[in-house]
Amino acid sequence: MTTVLEWTGKAAAFALGRRLIADSETGPGLDEGEREPGSRLGDGAPERDGRLGDGRPHLRDVDGTAHVPDPHENLLVVGDNLPALTALLATHRRQVKVVYIDPPYNTGNAHTYKDHGHDHASWLSFMTPRLLLARELMREDGVLFLHLDDKESAWAQLLGHEIFGEDNSLGTLIHQRAKGGGNARSFVRGHDYVHVWARDASQVRPFLTEKKSPAKLEVIDGRRMLVETDVLRAGFGRYARGSERRLMYEDIVAVKGAGKLAEVDAKLASGEYILRPWGTEGKHAVVRVTPAEKASSKMYSIIKALGGQNDLEPLGLGGVFSYPKPVELVKALVASQTFFDSDAIVLDFFAGSGTTAQAVMAANERDQGSRSFVLVQTPEPLRSKTARAVVAAAGGGAERTGGAGTIGQAAEGAGGTDGATAASDAEFPTISELTAERIRRAADVHSPGLIFTQLEVVDGE
Ligand SMILES: C[S@@+](CC[C@H](N)C(=O)[O-])C[C@H]1O[C@@H](n2cnc3c(N)ncnc32)[C@H](O)[C@@H]1O
Repeated sequence: MTTVLEWTGKAAAFALGRRLIADSETGPGLDEGEREPGSRLGDGAPERDGRLGDGRPHLRDVDGTAHVPDPHENLLVVGDNLPALTALLATHRRQVKVVYIDPPYNTGNAHTYKDHGHDHASWLSFMTPRLLLARELMREDGVLFLHLDDKESAWAQLLGHEIFGEDNSLGTLIHQRAKGGGNARSFVRGHDYVHVWARDASQVRPFLTEKKSPAKLEVIDGRRMLVETDVLRAGFGRYARGSERRLMYEDIVAVKGAGKLAEVDAKLASGEYILRPWGTEGKHAVVRVTPAEKASSKMYSIIKALGGQNDLEPLGLGGVFSYPKPVELVKALVASQTFFDSDAIVLDFFAGSGTTAQAVMAANERDQGSRSFVLVQTPEPLRSKTARAVVAAAGGGAERTGGAGTIGQAAEGAGGTDGATAASDAEFPTISELTAERIRRAADVHSPGLIFTQLEVVDGE
């Protein structure tokens, strides 16, 4: 018996996602030359002559120039994620290694999902085409992390099984986000869920985390190395407690034979092992050395990471966004699947304050990687006065593309707190401007000189 989730609007939601994918495969595309990754198409002309403005969503610079991004460009796409993901199919289909999303239940404008009480049906209809598109953007070995609290978790899990296939479900991680809490009706909730699916589970390698064994870390030739001195043992139980169990290099042939010596010599030649003088007899221990950033353990399913606000405070953005996720958590998730894949592309199409961009930078900082991020965020007005003031003071609005650390001039009409009562929402800084500001400030800390491009999505004009 197959059990599937049913809700009003399900067929239409699946049909929409599938149609957007099919249209992007068959619709009139750009000419070869125009597809050049990273190229900017001049003057907005393609829109006028219909080659880009053919009814399909596409991306453009804030000055209106169509922009075909390079898949490895760091991007912040401003707009509704449905047309944004559709537009990204042109350049990012099957390119994304990690998707991390933390979708909303309760936000605010026409393009955004609104929470009508516990209306699971509209939430599922909102998520369905977006998850179908996300899957289409994923590499064969790509994984998607869907971060949720109790409200939609059960429904979302069944939806995910239907979209990815239950065989491609890799399980659910627990994110412990709090230690205690006050107004609990039933019990104090200190955790969320992170459901994990693969595009193809058979292609996905284990989820890894940095090995934490500080006692065995040494700096060798200027590099932090994990050092294991007991990789070769003379034998189990042959010696009394406390006596030397290590098999010295000089004794390998006698104890384990010439084959073992050849194996060890090969690893010495490759640099995986080194010899270290040991004991009083002038002999050498065989020592395995692993660069610290490559020393890994399998990830544990419960991840403790408290307080995303603590990450925003040092950036001068404390209190500007409710419930940002901790950088440490998203970094752990990103790194777990990109441990040996440090130029992978990471996508978050519910970007919020931009935690994922900072997590990608922090992961790169750790291993000198070049992972890139693609973020999508609607330009909805910031609700909190503090947030509006901070983003407006930083010039929210004017500086839309370009390098880290460049804080733009205040846009005309971008109101600070004093404008709050008189001006309309449209004049206020938006969440996407906060996202951009956070990216710039995080780059100053983790990745000075980082370049990211801010684009807008044009929904098929
Ligand atoms: C729960 S927040 C994500 C928070 C984020 N993980 C962080 O750490 O800051 C969800 C975000 O998705 C955005 N959002 C909602 N609907 C959207 C849509 N259709 N397209 C793009 N962004 C959307 C909301 O504005 C909100 O910023």
